[in-house]
Amino acid sequence: MTRLGILISGRGSNLGAIADQVAAGHITAEIAVVIANRPEAPGLEAALRRGLNAVCLPSKGLDREVYDRMLLAELEKHAVDLVCLAGYMRLLSAGFIRKFPNRILNIHPSLLPAFPGLDAQHQALDHGVKLTGCTVHFVDEQLDAGPIILQAAVPVQDDDTVETLSTRILHEEHRIYPEAIRLVLSGGYRIEGRRVIGK
Ligand code: GRF
Repeated sequence: MTRLGILISGRGSNLGAIADQVAAGHITAEIAVVIANRPEAPGLEAALRRGLNAVCLPSKGLDREVYDRMLLAELEKHAVDLVCLAGYMRLLSAGFIRKFPNRILNIHPSLLPAFPGLDAQHQALDHGVKLTGCTVHFVDEQLDAGPIILQAAVPVQDDDTVETLSTRILHEEHRIYPEAIRLVLSGGYRIEGRRVIGK
């Protein structure tokens, strides 16, 4: 069975959505380890309460390459095959990414390539788009830029605030992240250039 390693920095609601689907048998994989890079991440507590194998590897003050070697060692210790970034707020080094070619997924709260980076929902409101959403993509060496696996659109309403828009986007995140993991686990796709195409 595929062994997932889930990296978090904060709340961990996407981790929760994935864990629910694993527990229900809708994702045929095992969560081998959850790693938080911040000791105060609420998602860490939540993962432990669920009985998941969750650890904190604090990244504060550590050089990216040094930290990523620690991260890699922890993932290798748990024989992780697929890495899922779930609100992991730290760039990964090229060396780390090369260790998991097309085996790292990320979720981003916009319709990429629009609004990469921080505060994507705020960027969308500021720009005045009428439609935004979320994207699950493979991670490559550019920020929020790898081949797109799934997207969901969310209309922007006139009275939206960052909070209300983020809540509606998050609802879709919790739906498409598990779905994207299922697709990747099934192997029912091929990557042609930037395109992820169903087999
Ligand atoms: C989500 O909006 C995700 O798209 C972004 O960070 C947020 C994480 O939320 N990358 P959570 O920690 O999964 O609740």
